[in-house]
Amino acid sequence: MAGHTKYTPTTAFGKWMHERLPIYAMVQEAALDFPAPKNLNYWWTFGGILSMMLVIQIITGIVLVMHYTPHTSMAFDSVEHIMRDVNYGWLLRYMHANGASMFFIAVYIHMFRGMYYGSYKAPREVLWMIGVVIYLIMMATAFMGYVLPWGQMSFWGAKVITNLFSAIPLFGDAITTWLWGGYSVDNPTLNRFFSLHYLLPFVLAAVVGLHVWALHVPGNNNPTGVEIKSGQDSIPFHPYYSMKDLFAIAVFLMFFAAWLFFGPNYLGHAINYEPANPLVTPAHIVPEWYYLPFYAILRAIPSKLGGVIAMFGSILILFALPWLDTSKVRSGNYRPIFKGFFWIFAIVCVALGYLGSKPADGIYVLWARILTAYYFAHFIIILPLLGLIETPKPLPASISDDVLAKSKAKLAPAE
Ligand code: HEM
Repeated sequence: MAGHTKYTPTTAFGKWMHERLPIYAMVQEAALDFPAPKNLNYWWTFGGILSMMLVIQIITGIVLVMHYTPHTSMAFDSVEHIMRDVNYGWLLRYMHANGASMFFIAVYIHMFRGMYYGSYKAPREVLWMIGVVIYLIMMATAFMGYVLPWGQMSFWGAKVITNLFSAIPLFGDAITTWLWGGYSVDNPTLNRFFSLHYLLPFVLAAVVGLHVWALHVPGNNNPTGVEIKSGQDSIPFHPYYSMKDLFAIAVFLMFFAAWLFFGPNYLGHAINYEPANPLVTPAHIVPEWYYLPFYAILRAIPSKLGGVIAMFGSILILFALPWLDTSKVRSGNYRPIFKGFFWIFAIVCVALGYLGSKPADGIYVLWARILTAYYFAHFIIILPLLGLIETPKPLPASISDDVLAKSKAKLAPAE
């Protein structure tokens, strides 16, 4: 490492350190001087926002654990104790609970950004696939976290979702018993969910490390989808994007604070303020908003096993996206037909989310079936075909050309 860097230590300590552990050189190369395309827009700040959210979740989580008791007879009361007795416990708990939602808002924007600008295409397939792994870990972590307050929805949500595994032929019941640690959702279940909920964010942090490593090999994609061709096309990450990211983080924190202070329970379920009761099933068992599209897909299929396969399939298909999209052009800006289908797909995902929040009967199920079919058609039929039939708009020769053309166009009326 020390041999490849342009970094030269300026102090005696810096020199001493550089010869033993060239960590400054690494930071200088991988973060400060890292050449980033000069045309990145605000959609590229969400990676930084996500990193901040992960840190917030880990810190608030660790402090919450200092006051939380993972036992079915005390979990609910310990959360109430945090809310009422612990100094600023309400703030900690609301930050952690709403933080999960903010994390998902940011990750959905980050993923749709990637889908629009074709950031999953070669040579960034592994970067994208690591992203999908991150998303899966996030889903599992949030699911287990929701069980911890041991309210009605915690209990019944855990019951419905863990029960899905019983649909697996032959081994289903054995797997469910193994997940529960017994014959129903009970104290052993709460205990293992607590253990894993604490562990997984650290696994997530490690996988994010791989994600950023995989980003640093090909470098960032950008709104044109054209790679960096010369020094003219890039600027150093610091101070240009470090400051842009910080600004975006500040704005995102304001958005977060608005939820936190004006509607801290808006995204939750009132019934989770009732202690878990295995004898009383709530009228509607609804997961957190970020799972709703997948919940709609699950219930759209008449057979339980089919529903489970479709639900997991709808996420796992993202792994194949780099190969399903056959277009040679990356960015949606230069793909007129793709652009339309991209927005239809985004609307379909939101509509599926809405349907997931509604009872699974009548017109809702019918629509869920139509939109589930469309969801899969987008990946399996539309994207592979579009790449073959669409005529993309001409690409700029370089990032610089595009930036200059745009600024000239802006200046033109004044000239
Ligand atoms: C904890 C969650 C995550 C963190 C902290 C994270 C972090 C980052 C960071 C810092 C960047 C560079 C800045 C940027 O492009 O915004 C990035 C880029 C990227 N991420 Fe993530 N990411 C996360 C989740 C995901 C997920 C779930 C996916 C996709 C399924 C994904 C796909 C990508 C792709 C394709 C890029 C390259 C974008 C480009 O250069 O055009 N990431 N990520």
